[in-house]
Amino acid sequence: MTRHDLPQGMVRAPSHTGPHEGYMPGWGNDFETEALPGALPQGMNSPQKCDYGLYGEQLSGTAFTANPPERTWTYRIRPSVKHSARYTKIDLPYWKSAPCVDPDVISLGQYRWNPVPHAETGLTWLTGMRTMTTAGDVNTQVGMASHIYLVTDSMEDAYFYSADSELLVVPQEGRLRFCTELGLIDVEPKEIAIIPRGLVYRVEVLDGPCRGFVCENYGQKFEMPGRGPIGANCMANPRDFKAPVAAFEDRETPSTLTIKWCGQFHETQIAQSPLDVVAWHGNYAPYKYDLRTYCPVGAILFDHPDPSIFTVLTAPSGVPGTANIDFVLFRERWMVAENTFRPPWYHKNIMSELMGNIYGQYDAKPQGFVPGGMSLHNMMLPHGPDRDAFEKASNANLGPDKLDNTMSFMFETRFPQHLTRFAAQEAPLQDDYIDCWDSLEKKFDGTPGRK
Ligand SMILES: [Fe+2]
Repeated sequence: MTRHDLPQGMVRAPSHTGPHEGYMPGWGNDFETEALPGALPQGMNSPQKCDYGLYGEQLSGTAFTANPPERTWTYRIRPSVKHSARYTKIDLPYWKSAPCVDPDVISLGQYRWNPVPHAETGLTWLTGMRTMTTAGDVNTQVGMASHIYLVTDSMEDAYFYSADSELLVVPQEGRLRFCTELGLIDVEPKEIAIIPRGLVYRVEVLDGPCRGFVCENYGQKFEMPGRGPIGANCMANPRDFKAPVAAFEDRETPSTLTIKWCGQFHETQIAQSPLDVVAWHGNYAPYKYDLRTYCPVGAILFDHPDPSIFTVLTAPSGVPGTANIDFVLFRERWMVAENTFRPPWYHKNIMSELMGNIYGQYDAKPQGFVPGGMSLHNMMLPHGPDRDAFEKASNANLGPDKLDNTMSFMFETRFPQHLTRFAAQEAPLQDDYIDCWDSLEKKFDGTPGRK
């Protein structure tokens, strides 16, 4: 399957060609799109009879009275209630939800993992999800989970939605297609996808095996951070987020729909594809975003600013300025600060930091934090550059210097993150990570002027 081939039987709305083919640009826009001409009612949401015999249905991502409400009107072959029969519980033992505090696991520690290897075949988006950490409580809709996905196989006649969470997907290897109720999203490394809570989809492998990272957000939706004094430009720009045009399939095939609800998985058997939305309009939609369009800003004279200047998206917690999750990107950029220790300084934070490496070398850890790998620096746990990074940065000639070939990210949350048993015992944990600070020397001997 190539990038532009549609799944068999899928009908997609005509759209722009070129860079926007198949997508509509603009974060938070009120989009409208139809895969068949005239399928979208104009001037009203709920006509007495919809064209083509479609059913009108609203998907609400916020309370009706939220400001602004986020909701999407869909016009579909069957109402969603026809894609929902009796439920049975199933077990997906590697996909965990908070609270998940294992008494045999120590989460207090500086942890780093090598890439989780592709050890198995036959893994889908559901069976290939491996939870690394959980934070908060899925039942009260606060906190998050971090996962690694290892996907080798497409979901066939199988669909999924999470009532618990919005998923932020960060591919590291391979290409995936999210066939959603609202249209198709293809993602590859250096791109991300955001799949809203409640949206039904299946995941196809375009080019595998696929590995990547997922932040499962139990709380309020991700939004773009305010830029404050930075103004109206730089960081992520709204036009670079792209929602899909409408696409539907009219497929009468026995299918399975799996639902994640309050941390448990449920299955229901249905007789057709639920991806039957012919037209939709609204502002509750999935997106993709190309991380190469992120425009970093930084210090242009001296010192090292807080990493919050690299925030791509933030999910609020209800406490102003204190995110449930920040998604932060460390990418290629120029370093020009004078008389400055340029890497991240040593620090201890109330926020907990889960990092992943998409490609290249991270400046605070030249060795050991490898593409596909992860690290965790938990709440109020000290960390910082290893000895090599410290010595190099302390003694470097400070001209303009390009940090090249680097793309890492952080899922930062206000809540402590608990390791799963998989993260502690099955994933390739680097037992010697803590040793990276061992050789840091005491330099102080009371001599004034010593550096
Ligand atoms: Fe940190």
